[in-house]
Amino acid sequence: MRRDSQLQLVFDSAPVIAPSMLKCDFSDLGGEIAALDRAGSRVLHWDVMDGHFVPNLSYGAMVIAAQRKRTEQLFDAHLMIADPARYLDDFLAAGCDAITFHLEAVPEPRALLRAIRTADRLAGLAINPGTPVDALRPFVDDCDVLLIMSVEPGFGGQAFLPAAIEKVRQARALAGPKKIVSVDGGIGPSTIAECARAGANLFVAGSSVFDTDDYSAAMRVLRDIAGPCRNSLS
Ligand code: DX5
Ligand code: ZN
Repeated sequence: MRRDSQLQLVFDSAPVIAPSMLKCDFSDLGGEIAALDRAGSRVLHWDVMDGHFVPNLSYGAMVIAAQRKRTEQLFDAHLMIADPARYLDDFLAAGCDAITFHLEAVPEPRALLRAIRTADRLAGLAINPGTPVDALRPFVDDCDVLLIMSVEPGFGGQAFLPAAIEKVRQARALAGPKKIVSVDGGIGPSTIAECARAGANLFVAGSSVFDTDDYSAAMRVLRDIAGPCRNSLS
């Protein structure tokens, strides 16, 4: 089975909680991934930052590639970098199953979205809090994932911006029932229900998983809240 089909399959049992590895303990990356395996996580969210598109640096394709052999979990790469096309081959070689980049980072996203799909991965487009959902409209047919940022990208642990809820609703209306609508930033027990009701089915969670000592329980809480809140379109 192609990995993109596997990722799509995970979403048949929505909602999906994807721990944001930006918030993990980098002194023990392998141990963190093993703990998430045991906690039943199926998708890992990798935040790549270049200190230019966002004012922070994290890690790149080499670090992700080194973890690929450690887990069967699907890899969801979130590229917060200025020139994502330049590094596409590296993220493909690293074994990323979904690759999402920012609309604000490129003059024209279509060619890159198509290149990601041509490589049998899911192609995603992300928008910052200041970018309207309407900006995604011309490209939606070339996307598998629409990612709504609910904080300014760059750092974990920020407060959820409530304006994201309406944007998730608009993104789901634009995407229709089949595509993945993801929300990223400040997702926790007090914010996930509204996002699920608005139509999100992929929830990136950093602090609300890693700032606990029981990843399994933290993810279960989020899943249990989001599960009954599904939107009629998602
Ligand atoms: C922010 C990143 C997020 C972040 C989420 O730029 O894209 O994935 O790590 O962390 P929390 O859940 O703590 O907001
Ligand atoms: Zn992210």
